[in-house]
Amino acid sequence: MTHPEWRPLLHVAPERGWVNDPNGLCFFRGRYHAFFQYTLNWRESDLRSWGHAVSDDLLTWEELPVALAPDIPEDRCGVYSGCAFVTEDGERMELYYTGNVVYDGPYDRIHEGREANEILDESADGRHFSKKRVLLRPEDYPADCTLHVRDPKVWEKDGEYWMVLGARNLDDHGQVLVYRSDDGISWKHHHTIRSLNPFGYMWECPNVVMLDDHEFLAVCPQGLDSEELRRHNMWQAGYFPVDGKIVEAETVDETLFREWDFGWDFYAPQVFVDGEGRTILIGWMGAFDSAWNSAPDDLEWCHCLTLPRELALGADGYLVQRPVHELDARRGTAGALGEESIALPDHLADIELAGIAGAGALVLDDVLSIALDGSLLTVSFADDAVGSGRTSRSVALPAEASSLRVIVDRSTVEIYLDGGRTVFSTRWFPEADRMTVASNIPCTTATAWNLV
Ligand code: FRU
Repeated sequence: MTHPEWRPLLHVAPERGWVNDPNGLCFFRGRYHAFFQYTLNWRESDLRSWGHAVSDDLLTWEELPVALAPDIPEDRCGVYSGCAFVTEDGERMELYYTGNVVYDGPYDRIHEGREANEILDESADGRHFSKKRVLLRPEDYPADCTLHVRDPKVWEKDGEYWMVLGARNLDDHGQVLVYRSDDGISWKHHHTIRSLNPFGYMWECPNVVMLDDHEFLAVCPQGLDSEELRRHNMWQAGYFPVDGKIVEAETVDETLFREWDFGWDFYAPQVFVDGEGRTILIGWMGAFDSAWNSAPDDLEWCHCLTLPRELALGADGYLVQRPVHELDARRGTAGALGEESIALPDHLADIELAGIAGAGALVLDDVLSIALDGSLLTVSFADDAVGSGRTSRSVALPAEASSLRVIVDRSTVEIYLDGGRTVFSTRWFPEADRMTVASNIPCTTATAWNLV
């Protein structure tokens, strides 16, 4: 089934196939490029390639042919995640990724039976990629690492190139390897960043955020225990404030780790700086090994990416995430919200409540409730089919909520509290043609715009 009424219009969401991590996000020759982990025949195979989409405004995406597929021995079991680096003259897009190789046989694939190769491919036009070059092989990683090393993120500073890689060490602790290079081709291990105390057995998809001299190291730790009001998913995605610079820091304080997003559907985000100098995050709107479904009714496509979110420093020293300003221009007709439901023509809406002063709930389609009570957010589904396995989840907010913004794009719902201090992303599979919205949250203004 294709279910066109569920297909997001303002998100990267290929027509067919499986999507996971965003890869190679960049602004190149005047357009935004989003690559992503992709498998067309995903019900039979998990061999990953890089899917590709381009956009002029970060909201309307044109799907292009697969950009990178496994076709050399060093990436024969998958073109895994990685990043894009645009050369200073703007002439070349360089894609760094991990070539995955797993051996047949009785191996644990942690200490033996697996290879991770860091590979560079490049393009002059952002469409044709031709020159795969293997830069790092298993023997180039530090001796304390298992075979789990992956997901390069590369940047340049003062003529030096830096790369971070996620890794699992021999004691089963997650860590980040920092490499340095003079030319982006020949790399040397520079140092390793660890948490003060063990914090998960593997850190995937490292990223760096540098804002006004503040640096943050983002990672996706595997192996943390769930808690009642946070870390609900199997694996987490978040960041540590770095004391000083990533190119020098050897430790991060795991007690300062903050999750990007508390929803059912979020993992493996990537951050990039665009042509305007904005720092933008896009995540995978999905999760591995979950009890909930993202392709009900034999849907031919599974998962999508989140809206692009601009990052800024929040008052408490953490990061806030706001949908990019391009979304404001998509607001159509406005309707005032109240306890009586209003109906919108489609499941496409930007809903905003300001001056919140008490407990209550915003309800979509009489099915999805977004409830606030002091510093507790509870998101729950009253209908199994619409939630498709997503039931109810509560999250502790850093303070009582004062504002709420909810973006609905067909089968996606993104909830932003307090200017993006807390974010919650979920898929849903609405059954009605039109969307109804009602709210009894006491507040000074409550508005729903349909998106066009
Ligand atoms: C994270 C991840 C990455 C890997 C990719 C493979 O979701 O496991 O570490 O490169 O997915 O699809």
